Amino acid sequence: MDNSRMERIRSAAQSVAERLDGREPLVGIVLGSGLGDLADRIKDPVVIPYNTIPGFPISTAVGHKGNFIVGQLAGKCVIAMQGRFHYYEGYSMELLALPIRVMKLLGIQYLFVSNAAGAANPDFRIRDMVIIKDHINNLPNPLIGPNLEEFGTRFPDLTCAYDQELREKALAIGKKLKMDLKTGVYFASSGPTYETPAEVRFFRTVGADMLGMSTVPEVIVARHCGLRVFGVSVITNVANVDNEQQTYNDADDVVAQAGMITDKMCKLFTELIKQL
Ligand code: HPA
Repeated sequence: MDNSRMERIRSAAQSVAERLDGREPLVGIVLGSGLGDLADRIKDPVVIPYNTIPGFPISTAVGHKGNFIVGQLAGKCVIAMQGRFHYYEGYSMELLALPIRVMKLLGIQYLFVSNAAGAANPDFRIRDMVIIKDHINNLPNPLIGPNLEEFGTRFPDLTCAYDQELREKALAIGKKLKMDLKTGVYFASSGPTYETPAEVRFFRTVGADMLGMSTVPEVIVARHCGLRVFGVSVITNVANVDNEQQTYNDADDVVAQAGMITDKMCKLFTELIKQL
């Protein structure tokens, strides 16, 4: 069984590698809802649609395209996922792990993740950029099942899931570029419903700053295989805490708000990649 799981990952990686003309990506980048524009800034790009890779599903989420883009950013070779897979789309956790493992086999050492998120922290505002310092996982763990020893240990440690050095460097860049970056804990639920106000109050109590439906599965898989992770949430809406407010959450607005600060996020990622 493990052989067929490994075979699927290897054949997908090989199919991508064959199209890279010797390019060796150092950084994998997962672009969240409304943040796909970063892919347009990658120089000399090779575009690899997911539906041309054996074993890959097709991304269906709003605000997401479905390509790997490989090229140069800040003088380094990167591979960006323009569009990610979500559990709420009906994909298995095994499938969510696949692109991360494929990028690992292609040689990346770092994984940069981004997402659109709702603010549970009352100090956060729409279009704030928040560096993820930790997470709370309320989704199934993608490592459940026989361990793939080739990638990592059965019981991975997550004390510093979000690399401390990268977080500190990012904060320094933010200061220099006057970006007013915040730091917070990302809470992942399955979605696709947004949280009820009662859930928002509950998640706040247990330490959630940002609420979202992604990122954590990818980060767990990345840490399992030893990648250094950096993550950013873009606040697209402030989560409702009572049942009276008429400020409903709206997916199109989430994408639009994220799109408005793509530029800032691109700058931060680019500066940080420059320093790797
Ligand atoms: N909740 C969950 N996921 C989200 C939200 C939210 O408020 N905003 C963007 N993604």
